[in-house]
Amino acid sequence: MKIKLNTRPFNGLHGRLTVPGDKSISHRGLMLGAISSGQTVLKHFLTADDCLSTLNALRSLGVPITRQGTTVTVTGRERHGLTAATVPLDMGNAGTATRLLTGLLAGQPFDSTLVGDPSLSQRPMARVSEPLATMGAAIELTAGHLPLTIHGRPLHATNVQMTVASAQVKSALILAALSADGPSTIVEKLPTRDHTERLLRVFGGQLETAADGRTITVQPHPQLVGQTLTVPGDLSSAAFFMAAASIVPGSRIRLERVGLNPTRSGFLTVLKRMGGDVSVERLTNPGEPLGNVEIAFSTLKPIRLTAKDVPAVIDELPLVALLAATADGISVISGAEELRVKETDRIATIVTELSKLGVQITEQPDGFVIDGRPAWQLQTPNFDSHGDHRIGMMMAIAALRLSTPTTLSGAEAINISYPGFFADLQRLLPSGEAVS
Ligand code: S3P
Repeated sequence: MKIKLNTRPFNGLHGRLTVPGDKSISHRGLMLGAISSGQTVLKHFLTADDCLSTLNALRSLGVPITRQGTTVTVTGRERHGLTAATVPLDMGNAGTATRLLTGLLAGQPFDSTLVGDPSLSQRPMARVSEPLATMGAAIELTAGHLPLTIHGRPLHATNVQMTVASAQVKSALILAALSADGPSTIVEKLPTRDHTERLLRVFGGQLETAADGRTITVQPHPQLVGQTLTVPGDLSSAAFFMAAASIVPGSRIRLERVGLNPTRSGFLTVLKRMGGDVSVERLTNPGEPLGNVEIAFSTLKPIRLTAKDVPAVIDELPLVALLAATADGISVISGAEELRVKETDRIATIVTELSKLGVQITEQPDGFVIDGRPAWQLQTPNFDSHGDHRIGMMMAIAALRLSTPTTLSGAEAINISYPGFFADLQRLLPSGEAVS
């Protein structure tokens, strides 16, 4: 689907907004609810395609789930009450759901097959099947990819050293470790988002994270009890508007009840380091930190990021590239080779799309070098999501700095994480100024 984009709002973006619920937490809330006793109620659940793939997969595994608007109720089946699906589980585009469910199902006493869309079917799955094999899991891949078949069986405790910095892989191991025959230890390559650990504790799981922040010991066979939770706003969605307000002159916006988990909120740190006008008001919330964030336009400086900075900002790196495209001078993003195995090869798609703005951006094996400039020279007004929700939204934000009409192809990909994105953007644009 090709759409016309909003171009430069004369007075910038203004107003306040609560973005939809966090994608990572919505997936995990469903899965933990499914293996707990009693009911789990998730308020402000993300009703986007990715999380609906998880919801439907769990229903196919015999978990009763109802949804009213953004409130989802899961009737927990405990760890032993899931049943074999009669059809392959269709994971759509959802990498997180696929990796986490693989871990969850590895120790179940039945087989499961997971399939996905063409993009998900190209993403690497050995990163999850190989460490799970150290627990005795039997997972058959198709040349390293989906379709994958899990031959569920009893699992052993493990002590595993991860070779990729991935919260998805870590979470798969934690979920599998719940069914093991003793405590398991997982050592991360670098600390990654810890939503699984936090949420599992809230449901009654027992696990410890060592002082190094990357060694996790999981006790098996916990008694998990259903919870009522409100999912914080997704920082990765809010980040699009934070970027917009930072690069469109005259802007000042406030994003309310946004998740501020420190393993996840690297974008705010990066924006501040680039000279962004950011103020954060923290609110009290059990489990996941959240708060209100105010952002105003400012002239940004270039930035250098290396591997240690990457996990906390992995999904926002397209936006960091966009910010850097407006900053006068050279920005260097390195140690970000994980971008190559996201919904698209994001190093390639970021370079292709930002080059259209007349910005000098050079692809590197593990990132990119951007020679930013405050005034862009638009080369082509037709942008493309390449089927990747975050690339599509990044270019919709880029368009806000342009006065020439622009279009976006593949706009439907945005439904993967943010079906209401354009409606929310419209709320921040003064009426009468936008072309849509
Ligand atoms: C996620 C982890 C990240 C991130 C993805 C969501 C999660 O992937 O890119 O969008 O919810 O665990 P990796 O853990 O593979 O880096």
